[in-house]
Amino acid sequence: MTKQQTVLVTGGAGYIGSHTIVELIENGYNCVIVDNLCNSSYESVARLEVLCKTHIPFYHVDLCDREPMERIFKENKIDSVIHFAGLKAVGESTEIPLKYYHNNILGTLVLLEMMQRYDVEKLVFSSSATVYGDATRFPDMIPIPEECPVGPTNPYGQTKLAIEKILADLYNSEKETWKFAILRYFNPIGAHPSGLIGEDPLGIPNNLLPYMAQVATGRREKLNVFGNDYDTRDGTPIRDYIHVVDLAKGHIAALKYLDARQTGKGICREWNLGSGKGSTVFEVYRAFCDAVGEEIPYVVTGRRAGDVINLTAKPDRAKQELKWQTELDVATACKDNWKWATENPFGYQLKGVKADFST
Ligand code: NAD
Ligand code: WQD
Repeated sequence: MTKQQTVLVTGGAGYIGSHTIVELIENGYNCVIVDNLCNSSYESVARLEVLCKTHIPFYHVDLCDREPMERIFKENKIDSVIHFAGLKAVGESTEIPLKYYHNNILGTLVLLEMMQRYDVEKLVFSSSATVYGDATRFPDMIPIPEECPVGPTNPYGQTKLAIEKILADLYNSEKETWKFAILRYFNPIGAHPSGLIGEDPLGIPNNLLPYMAQVATGRREKLNVFGNDYDTRDGTPIRDYIHVVDLAKGHIAALKYLDARQTGKGICREWNLGSGKGSTVFEVYRAFCDAVGEEIPYVVTGRRAGDVINLTAKPDRAKQELKWQTELDVATACKDNWKWATENPFGYQLKGVKADFST
């Protein structure tokens, strides 16, 4: 890289954004964060500054608010954007869909308008394997390639697909200009090995790893395993779990890919970010118990509505084109997750009080 580039990281105080900032700074990029802290706290930014030994400009701004968004673009010479900001709870999105459509889509539209106005052409977007919906509709397409027909089954997934389409339309309108990398993440897990940053869900965790961690630290009684009657090797569903540090590195690979494109040669393309290896719930449970060093209580309950049997990535495109592949396994992710959980049993909350140093 010739000159130090500045990346605007939307949602940079959140789980995946914060881990990506560590990798960006290690790779010589400057970062500016914009986050409204609706699902995170300023404490993660404070810790990032400790971890990265540098000041990271932070804007406590909602992406849907045009004026403060414009100020960010005026005050900083932004070269590219990584766009994590969004609401992500699948269940909640079925209960309050308008909030999800408003936040995720309007926030993206405002961001793109500012990028257009200030001549920022490169964007890496956080999409999700959830856009494939129930990919078992296409048994020949498991593991799932990017060509698999999409078909989200919940409003959250619809917002991701809608944003993918907005990006494609914008690219088609000015193919020489826009450079868009759409990254479809599979199941991110784990935490930074320092134990300083990690996933900090509000309320009762929806996802497997954070829930198990809260059982292991005594905050919850037992894990509910949602069904053991699937047609898999042990009866529980299969997912492609990916260490969040590997995932973060995938963003650097995508950004470098966009950086390397010649002027006048735009792109809008999707890449799966997964390991290509599927694990069952019981396999992850076993790896986590091994990391903890004791058996975690669990009970098998009924299937969770909307769960599918198998979501495993075919990650070949990212390997060939982005020169990226996962390096860390589920056991390492469990070990790192457990370090984060034991060193921060209440996440970023200090003594049970939400820390917020943004004022
Ligand atoms: P997260 O909730 O930890 O981070 C998202 C951040 O965006 C939060 O800090 C939140 O405060 C912020 N935010 C939300 N709406 C905003 C708005 N309007 N303006 C400003 N900030 C806003 O979630 P994450 O797990 O880090 O996910 C990051 C992105 O990756 C999301 O877009 C999510 O949909 C996507 N994704 C996540 C997963 C996963 O399992 N974690 C999987 C696939 C895709
Ligand atoms: C994994 C497995 C559960 C919790 C979700 C979103 C998806 C993407 C990633 C954003 C499943 C089982 C879970 C528990 C359990 N996010 N499980 N007991 O559902 O694969 O994906 O996060 O884009 O869109 O849907 O992840 O961690 O919730 O579940 O048995 O308490 O663990 O049934 O098989 P999921 P998850």
